Amino acid sequence: MSPRLCVIPGDGIGQEVVPVAVAVLQRLLPDLTLVEAEAGWECFQRHGVAVPEVTLQAMRNCGAGLFGAVSSPSHQVPGYRSAILTLRQQLGLNVNLRPVRSWPQVSPKVGIDLLILRENSEGLYSGREHWQEEGVAIAERVISRTASQRLAECAAQVAAQRQARRITLVHKANVLPLTCGLFRDTCRAHLEAQGWRDVVDERLVDVAALQLVAQPETFDLIVTSNLFGDILSDLACHWSGGLGLAPSLNWGNGLALAEPVHGSAPDIVGSGRANPLAAILSIALLLRHHWQREDLAERLERAVADFLREEWRDDLAGDTTRVVSEGVLARIG
Ligand code: NAD
Ligand code: IPM
Ligand code: MN
Repeated sequence: MSPRLCVIPGDGIGQEVVPVAVAVLQRLLPDLTLVEAEAGWECFQRHGVAVPEVTLQAMRNCGAGLFGAVSSPSHQVPGYRSAILTLRQQLGLNVNLRPVRSWPQVSPKVGIDLLILRENSEGLYSGREHWQEEGVAIAERVISRTASQRLAECAAQVAAQRQARRITLVHKANVLPLTCGLFRDTCRAHLEAQGWRDVVDERLVDVAALQLVAQPETFDLIVTSNLFGDILSDLACHWSGGLGLAPSLNWGNGLALAEPVHGSAPDIVGSGRANPLAAILSIALLLRHHWQREDLAERLERAVADFLREEWRDDLAGDTTRVVSEGVLARIG
């Protein structure tokens, strides 16, 4: 059957970068079928729901999707939750792959190639937050053996794919011995049983953050819980060249949803400054991990590297989206 892609541009620059990434994918997979779907803040304002049931159904039918970004207010809005969280939870997209690597011209350092594997369904993203009493608010951090085990299984799989020389479990078990302890012990037991005993290592999240800043090249595969992975992936993508070059893949349950790590960037909407490379590189992750098209993923990443080496300039400003789009498309051929 020909590949199908559920296209969810969302809000803000999601609507600017997604069409570029889709055009790139169409060049690589000419028989691709596109299915457009809505989600996000604008969708919520139009329909009163951030992720309509038809969007979930479209994702299930397609198996693969590309999500741009959505806006979320930083205060409680009754009935609203960030659409990406609903998509992850409702579709069983239990893990999130967030690679960070050096690129020509844009990266502050050469030789970095690491992958953050982030648990995607629980932790402090449980959605369980309430007032205990006036002046005291509680958020519940949920860690289950089942979700940790699923993450560890994925870790063993990607460790084999990239022939990992080091797997770092990142946690805070000195302060959270039950939740982080369960997470660490479950991941470690599975990885050791799968033959990674000499490769598995662990770090407390605070020192891991420092080492990601000071010695990023010493990391290979990082396995961590939801919020730690969220924060560390923004931190680490500095080494790729920033949020404009940070891709991710939500994965699980036979489904895959590509998603640039960045948000809807309201400060640059409509200015032409949005870098579509994060979305384009997220497509490479779909090709590699969902469609098993390593050949096309490499072709795409080579086109990106060639474009950056030959044509990238720091002063692209309001021409960024267009120049990147034309430059990558031209190099795919
Ligand atoms: P952001 O990622 O949207 O932007 C942070 C900074 O990076 C901004 O200065 C922005 O201009 C810049 N930036 C981001 N992506 C860029 C790109 N592709 N090219 C060039 N510059 C880029 O984060 P924020 O400002 O903290 O959040 C804005 C909104 O996005 C909020 O409503 C937040 O909830 C939401 N958000 C959504 C997602 C998602 O849907 N996956 C992720 C993060 C934030
Ligand atoms: C990300 C985003 C989301 C997250 C937000 C938008 C809910 O920051 O994908 O990294 O926290 O996971
Ligand atoms: Mn984030």
